[in-house]
Amino acid sequence: MSTSVPGTVYLVGAGPGDPELLTLRAHRLLQSCDALVYDALVPRALLELVPPHCELHFVGKRRGHHSVPQRSTNAVLVELAGRHRSVVRLKGGDPFLFGRGGEEAAHLVAAGVAVQVVPGVTAGIAAPAYAGIPVTHRAAGSSVTFVTGHEEIDKARPSVDWRGLARSSDGLVIYMGLHNLRRIGDELMAGGLGPETPAAVIQQGTVQGQRVLVTVLGELADRAEAQGLASPSIVLVGAMVAQRVPACAPEPALAEMPIPF
Ligand SMILES: C[S@@+](CC[C@H](N)C(=O)[O-])C[C@H]1O[C@@H](n2cnc3c(N)ncnc32)[C@H](O)[C@@H]1O
Repeated sequence: MSTSVPGTVYLVGAGPGDPELLTLRAHRLLQSCDALVYDALVPRALLELVPPHCELHFVGKRRGHHSVPQRSTNAVLVELAGRHRSVVRLKGGDPFLFGRGGEEAAHLVAAGVAVQVVPGVTAGIAAPAYAGIPVTHRAAGSSVTFVTGHEEIDKARPSVDWRGLARSSDGLVIYMGLHNLRRIGDELMAGGLGPETPAAVIQQGTVQGQRVLVTVLGELADRAEAQGLASPSIVLVGAMVAQRVPACAPEPALAEMPIPF
């Protein structure tokens, strides 16, 4: 690939929170990078891995403020790549799963910057695992869907067809779903899922303060609300929840939780 600037931007997955879930490749890149651009759901312990000369740039959402617009983040990355050999863009979980990594990669390539993605352990698999829940199980069907619950369900043209998913997917792993939980549950039941369908919420998965709610779809929103569950949380719906093996769950790490998203 021909490039007009000397640096490479690495779009690196930080994993879901437990610093030990970082990949070896991500670890090596962090230890040698010249600039680090990170956002809210990045384990704080990872920021200590960078060398002393490394420039740090936070581009996430601060409490009470809006996130940095995506175009500003893109501009920061291009600018840093013009001055540095190795720029790490660190993102929570996996950069290409609800992480806007694809948008950033396309922008960087269009701007003539060399870019490489480094996959990470996604929260949608790791948080359930730290609760002992396998996201697939032969006794629980053969499909699982990763879906965002963030969009407004009553917007004119919703892009998530919850009723269709109720019929077509054996299991759902819902990111950013907590605020729409009641509506999502209602839509799934309107689509044919019974109120007794197993469901779970894992808050702050893999780190201290992890909380796990195991319930059924018909009680999901009430129980999540009653227990005061908060973001970041993964919501699971489907028979795989009933295959939970609590004894296999690792202890959550004593790491500081990333700032809630
Ligand atoms: C913008 S998405 C980023 C997902 C990320 N790219 C990944 O692969 O995990 C943010 C959402 O991921 C989920 N999430 C991230 N970290 C989490 C954690 N430690 N425990 C539970 N959910 C988490 C939450 O649903 C949160 O609202």
